[in-house]
Amino acid sequence: MLEGSAASNLYARAEHAARTIRARTALDGRIAVVLGSGLGGFADEFEEAVRIPYAEIPGFAASTVAGHAGSLVIGKVGRVPVVAMLGRVHSYEGYSLEEVTFPIRTFKLMGIDTLLLTNAAGGINVQLSEGTLMIISDHLNLMGLNPLRGPNDERFGTRFPDMTEVYSRALQETVVEEANALGIEVRRGIYAALSGPSYETPAEIHMLRSFGADAIGMSTVPEAIVARHMGMKVLGISCITNMAAGISDGPINHEEVMEIGNRVRATFAVLLRRIIGRLT
Ligand code: HPA
Repeated sequence: MLEGSAASNLYARAEHAARTIRARTALDGRIAVVLGSGLGGFADEFEEAVRIPYAEIPGFAASTVAGHAGSLVIGKVGRVPVVAMLGRVHSYEGYSLEEVTFPIRTFKLMGIDTLLLTNAAGGINVQLSEGTLMIISDHLNLMGLNPLRGPNDERFGTRFPDMTEVYSRALQETVVEEANALGIEVRRGIYAALSGPSYETPAEIHMLRSFGADAIGMSTVPEAIVARHMGMKVLGISCITNMAAGISDGPINHEEVMEIGNRVRATFAVLLRRIIGRLT
């Protein structure tokens, strides 16, 4: 009894948030994009854009991290209506994974079926370097948490969702094709998520490498799991902003992560625009 009401409460809250967003724009978003650290500039290019601070959307938590603006921008990329998150909240900020993934629940209830997740990540595979874009082919959830823990609402999805193909192979192919056409180098790799906020030790990176991880970050995986729970198609792209601890010599800092994000912004925006054009 208690379980059922807690689950339906989440559904009702996501419906409420979806209604609130729809009341602010005539655009019917088809695709949602989450813009990670330093990548928010992409939304500057939207036409007919409406910006809604998270604080004005019931249930959306505000990011506490520099580089994560904390607003939703709804606008057109070419002819495609897109809903973009400028900044996300993370588990390390103290938010539950239900809060972290609440926007994704909301997008689904707005009728959005495709989710593009972007992030800044540390490179573990030495074939990657600062500024490389990596298409996420699969992930390792090492956060010690799963966003689906707790009561399950069947209206969202099944209790035990399949995770064989979290990141749509077809969408991965689309990115490769568009990147090739533009002459942008992209790699494919496995993204491991830890909860952070401390960066990893060289020993941890060594372990992750032996686990098969190509890149490391502190986001994306909860959102991808929740999206798949609801049957959304997911694409993930990491911007490698630094080589992970012990892979390169120096220490890692957030400013560097932001700076590289800014540096690849233009390339990234061109690629995203082309991908979005192919998604409908
Ligand atoms: N580790 C974890 N998260 C990150 C990193 C890193 O090296 N770079 C950007 N996000």
